[in-house]
Amino acid sequence: MSSAREHWGSRTGFILAAAGSAVGLGNIWKYPSMAGQHGGAAFTLVYLLCILIVGLPILLAELSIGRSTQLNPVGAFKKLASNPRWAWVGFMGVASAFMILSFYSVVGGWTLKYTFVALTGGFNQLAADSTAATNYFTDFHTAPIAPLFWHLIFIGLCVFIIGRGVKKGIEQWSKVLMPVLLVILVILVIRGVTLDGAKAGLDFLFKPRWSDLDASGIAMALGHSFFTISLGMGTMITYGSYLHQESDLMKAGLWVVFLDTLIALLAGVAIFTAVFAQGQNPAEGPGLIFIVLPTLFPNIPGGFIFAPLFFFLLFVAALTSAISILEVVIAYNIDEKGWSRKRATYIFGGIVTMSGALVSLSLGDFNILAPLGITYFDFLDWTTSKYMLPLGGLLTAIFVIVKWGVPNYSREVFSKSFKDRVPDFAVTIVLIISALVVAFIILKEMIEIFI
Ligand code: PHE
Repeated sequence: MSSAREHWGSRTGFILAAAGSAVGLGNIWKYPSMAGQHGGAAFTLVYLLCILIVGLPILLAELSIGRSTQLNPVGAFKKLASNPRWAWVGFMGVASAFMILSFYSVVGGWTLKYTFVALTGGFNQLAADSTAATNYFTDFHTAPIAPLFWHLIFIGLCVFIIGRGVKKGIEQWSKVLMPVLLVILVILVIRGVTLDGAKAGLDFLFKPRWSDLDASGIAMALGHSFFTISLGMGTMITYGSYLHQESDLMKAGLWVVFLDTLIALLAGVAIFTAVFAQGQNPAEGPGLIFIVLPTLFPNIPGGFIFAPLFFFLLFVAALTSAISILEVVIAYNIDEKGWSRKRATYIFGGIVTMSGALVSLSLGDFNILAPLGITYFDFLDWTTSKYMLPLGGLLTAIFVIVKWGVPNYSREVFSKSFKDRVPDFAVTIVLIISALVVAFIILKEMIEIFI
């Protein structure tokens, strides 16, 4: 089975694909909203710390588990553990992937719609009018049909790319889309920092306001560090499984973390400079992107170009992440069920389209979770980013420590860089610390629910 496995064509191709997975709505939509609400740079510092202490070791764990087994998450845990119980960690990953994609692709559809509206000058009527922008967004995303149309196009694109395979699909497209993303972002950052009053935005992002950082902000930063580097659900196991044995995991992991963080910060700069230059409220939450920004663009010189560029950027980021999420489910079905890539892609493309439709409808008049007082959208978002991803990461770290063994992990991770220079006990301590931090935060979240 593994002899026929597809592989990445080049190291750069892999890094761009993995960074493409990491850089997504999490960086450009979620991160700036969260930073805005929880103390700006204070939140950012905690988030960076979480990425280094917790994210990087677990990212390397996933990549090495994938590369050494050349299998999807379920198959990988089964093979290394020689005990079917551990395969449940992989199953939980596949389930999380399915749940995340169901809402992620809906928001992906919104980014397409907003790109289209921006291109056709639709934001002009929203200039400096937050009520109009709020109504516009509410009318659109709670409507029964229109968001489904955009969602379908978004999933269609994912299916098209994934169906072409690892090298010709995911890698080829990442090699085109990631540089495009970076160029657009740099253009937007330059526009942002040259606006009058941009400095307040930079201060907001880079000067810490510790008093605004509360416990819930810290838990959010940790959960987000998982979400943003695509951890805890086997994406990186899957992408790692397409790596050749001779690749340098440590270097690749550092590149992914670096690009992901850089792009989140740049997105923050592009957004907050524009928000502050026009004296808007930074703490708008998720509405920051879809409500506040459309009111700002018409008043920014050149806004008619920057608005579609921004939403296209968001769309590209979402697309390269969505394909990595779908790939987890596809790889599982190819490896474990013996399905062809095309068959798995079409069938799961169809299933995700339907479950995404339920998510989208839950924001309007048809919410299957109405009796619980929560939308199906929020339910999927919260359960995955607050519990399932951290739990998946925690179990992966525990798996390395107690089952697979730190020497095996180190052999994979340090096969090129730092070879024989990092003692196993140091690696064990790092993994234990990251497991403890995750366990603590999961417990804290649980206690909050029950008390
Ligand atoms: N990392 C992506 C983002 O930041 C989301 C994602 C989560 C992708 C989990 C894959 C797996 O938006």
